[in-house]
This record gives sequence, C-alpha cells and structure tokens, in this order.
Amino acid sequence: MKIAILPGDGIGVEIVAEAVKVLKALDLKFEMETALVGGAAYAAHGHPLPESTLELAKQADAVLFGAVGDWKYDKLERALRPEQAILGLRKNLGLFANFRPAICYEQLTHASSLKPELIAGLDILIIRELTGDIYFGQPRGRRTAVDGHFPGADEAFDTMRYSRPEIERIARVAFEAARKRNKRVTSVDKANVLETFQFWKDIVSEVGKDYPDVALDHMYVDNAAMQLVKEPKKFDVVVTGNMFGDILSDEAAMLTGSIGMLPSASLNANNQGLYEPSHGSAPDIAGKGVANPLATILSGAMMLRFSLNQEEAARRIEAAVKKVLAQGLRTPDIWSEGTTQVGTQEMGAAVVKALV
Ligand code: IPM
Ligand code: MG
Repeated sequence: MKIAILPGDGIGVEIVAEAVKVLKALDLKFEMETALVGGAAYAAHGHPLPESTLELAKQADAVLFGAVGDWKYDKLERALRPEQAILGLRKNLGLFANFRPAICYEQLTHASSLKPELIAGLDILIIRELTGDIYFGQPRGRRTAVDGHFPGADEAFDTMRYSRPEIERIARVAFEAARKRNKRVTSVDKANVLETFQFWKDIVSEVGKDYPDVALDHMYVDNAAMQLVKEPKKFDVVVTGNMFGDILSDEAAMLTGSIGMLPSASLNANNQGLYEPSHGSAPDIAGKGVANPLATILSGAMMLRFSLNQEEAARRIEAAVKKVLAQGLRTPDIWSEGTTQVGTQEMGAAVVKALV
C-alpha cells in the first residue's frame, strides 16, 4: 500500500503531520512518500502541481492531502495559483466522486450557530460530482461580445455541461451510498432554469429506477440552501453537480459548527482516492500550532476504508477521535467553557494514545 503525502500550504503542513503520526501508530504496512503541492510547490519548482508530484499521486493507492492556498499567491496568473494543484489532481486522477459528510458530534452540538435541537445527531452525506460542470467545461475565456446586452464589449464566459455517463456514474455512487445509510437521496439541481440541470434531473430519475429501495427526491439548489439551515436533519444523501456541491458542502459543513472536524474523500472509478479535510489552508493561523488536526486524521480513516480496504483500522481512528472529544480535549476552533484547550500536536498525540 502506497500513500502519497501532500501537505501543501498553511496549516496543511501541521495537520498532515499529525495524521501521519496516527497512521504510523496503527502498525500497518504502508509506504509513505511526501511531495510538495500548491504554493509550496510553486515557490520551490515554479508550478503548483509539478510533474513529479502528479506522478507520485498517480502511482499511489491513495493521496493524503492537507490544503493549498495563500494570499501571497493571489496575484499569480490563474494557471499558477495553488488552487490549480487540487483541480489538476482531480482531473488527472479522474476523481469524479467527492464525499463530504457533515456530522455533528454529540459533544460539539453547541458549537453550531443553529439551535442545538436542529443539528443534534445530524449526519448528512453530500456527494458532489467533481470533474465536470462549469468547473471544467470548455470553451471558456475572454473575448469581445458579438451579441447579448452589450455587443462589442469585453466579456468573459464559462461553459456548464454534463454528459449522460458523467451523471449516471455519480448518481450510482449516490444510490449505492444511500443503501448503506438511510436509503434517501436528494438530487439538487436548477432544472427550472438550466438545460444542463434538467438533463441532470432526468438522468438521475432514470438511474433511480434501478434502486427501488432508495427514496429519491429532487430539489432546486436555492431551496436546498434554505432547507439545509431550516431542517437539516431531513437530508440523508445529497447528490449534486460540481458548483452547487462546492457551495452546499461549505454550508452543510458549517451547520456542524466545526469545519475543523470534517474529512472528505474524492474517488475515481478504481477506488483510488484523494483524502483531505473539508477546510482550507487558513494562512492566518499557520505555524501557530493551534489548527485542529481532527479533520485530517479522520480523512486518514476514510482513506483506510475506501482505498486501502482497512475498515477495522478506520474504525479504530474514528473511535479514538470520539474518545478524545469525550475526554474534553479541544483545539481553539471547537473550544467551549468547561473543556480543555490543546494545540495541534497535543491533539494528535492524544488521538494516538486513544487508539486501542
Ligand atoms: C473545495 C474548494 C475548491 C473547489 C477550490 C480550492 C478550487 O473550494 O474543494 O471545495 O472550488 O472545489
Ligand atoms: Mg469549496
């Protein structure tokens, strides 16, 4: 089993180090190899996703990824910005299925900005299509408008598009996932306005016929954004396109009050995967030893489960995380009165110690 370790920028470096500690404590045989990615790779090699990093990721069974991005790279041309590393990995590895669970841990119910009763026990799985839609659709660019409201003016454009196989395969991922949970899928679209998402809705419905045991409903994205804060527990599995999934998954993550707790997985058709925390690189707190490593540690658990076929080890990590929360240990992002504040390294060490 080979794992590519790509810490990236900002707090990525600190939190990945803790996840690696936890993985090493499991006594499993992995080969781990670390490489630069994002702004750190740009600074060293002039590109956010150097060929050597991409090769390592392709050869590995799984990639453990920290985070990329820093304000100091905001002025670079788009192709050289840190974010291009993650987009390039998704595209080159064909990581079309993105799993973003939003789980509210019992001890952290009060960390949410929503009333505790609305989110206690929350367990939603957002499945975001990750290699299509307006993110990757061609053509895109800048030009002089020949029509529209201002012919002759400068304009920019992107293309929203989805093919039938792209929708079918992500729909199947969602129905299969729902079968292992509460057997409900909500497909989020904008079929009332967009041709692409009427097509999406039609195809998800077709695929749904193969899963009569799973209840399927459809929701417009604006309504879904509203229902997520109104009655989040109504959802089980949410499946949607790349852009809507980007937005809704941040919203769902924040419902739990602690984006520092949420892992994610991005898989391709061979179950090769990239695992990363749902949060970003947080350059404002980088290097201070206060970042929450739990989302990355839990991403390691997802990696063991989905790509490395080590369910038992995955559960050990998840149980250890619950244990440290029960012990009252909290990084500043999830701290509340009556609990014990710890730093990044102390939290990682506590999880290692809690492994049984
Ligand atoms: C995410 C991020 C990325 C995205 C950025 C960093 C390109 O927001 O993983 O959700 O938009 O997909
Ligand atoms: Mg996002």
